Amino acid sequence: MNFLSDTTAAAHPALLDAIAHANGGYAASYGNDPLCQRVEDRLKEVFETDLKVLFTVSGTASNALALSILCPSHGAVLCHDEAHIHRDERGAPEFFTGGAKLIPLPGAHAKIDPAALTATLNSWPQDFVHTTPPRALSVSNLNESGCAYTAGELAALTGPAKAKGLGVHFDGARFANLLAGSGMTPAQASWKAGADILSLGATKNGALAAEAVILFPSVMDRYGELQARQKRAGHMVAKMRYVAAQFEAWLTGGLWLDLASHANAMAARLADGLSAIEGVELAHPVDGNEVFVALPDAVAQTLRAAGAGFYQWPDGTARLVASWSTREDDVNALLDAARA
Ligand SMILES: Cc1ncc(COP(=O)(O)O)c(C=O)c1O
Repeated sequence: MNFLSDTTAAAHPALLDAIAHANGGYAASYGNDPLCQRVEDRLKEVFETDLKVLFTVSGTASNALALSILCPSHGAVLCHDEAHIHRDERGAPEFFTGGAKLIPLPGAHAKIDPAALTATLNSWPQDFVHTTPPRALSVSNLNESGCAYTAGELAALTGPAKAKGLGVHFDGARFANLLAGSGMTPAQASWKAGADILSLGATKNGALAAEAVILFPSVMDRYGELQARQKRAGHMVAKMRYVAAQFEAWLTGGLWLDLASHANAMAARLADGLSAIEGVELAHPVDGNEVFVALPDAVAQTLRAAGAGFYQWPDGTARLVASWSTREDDVNALLDAARA
């Protein structure tokens, strides 16, 4: 009954096999090998566009590197107050940008309120020397409350931001869960919705350690700079083929979407079962693999005593996360314990 995080799950055997398969002979290092090139070509098909990809091994590195080419040190990044880049990256975006300011925005269910975005864009001018001009917008989808922005909701944010000249970053740490839950295509959920750069995470969905920064055509000319920043930050993995190998297996035959669909289905089962119990209330819509619930203390204690693992969130709710490896039996056992 481990619902602590999708990062507590094991790596999927197909991805480990792919690493073992890549483990023969010599290959060019630092991303210059045929496997890295193959994955880039595959991603072009998946996203239906030209693109450049840079592999990393953590979502934080992806986000901070991506933002470092969108926002100068004297600019600001707009994001939700709950955004991982704001709450959970120990200042990495500020560090990698050389001191850019993060301006947190409000909005229910960790979704940026478009009116708040517009108000901020208007009250932080681009051309007044004393203020810090917003230069980038970062949107997490799936977001930190497990909620998905629709294509229309994304456009309502990226449109006004782009009109003011901001670059747009999407944090896709749970991008596969978003696609599996929403039915959007990778293109619809990224560049067609206004993203210039996407942090694409596989680690939460079956990888050992595989993350990527994807540059869409609007910023592809910044690839050299991104690589230089990756090197300078100490994030340029020498034996990059092993990261690419995980992505190749993940994308093959739609495995990434199958794993995410399973995780989402387990979360939906959890949410349905828990919300049917008197006194238990869902805090947010469940659009992916994360469930946030207000649990009466007695229920929370009973679950912990029964061996269930989940985190208490700062707002007092319980966060339960399902992964590709969550078993239906574990969901049922948790629901039985909660009902009892
Ligand atoms: C929305 C979001 N973005 C980024 C990350 C960063 O992941 P990492 O722990 O690999 O740095 C996480 C991890 O929890 C996340 O939830």
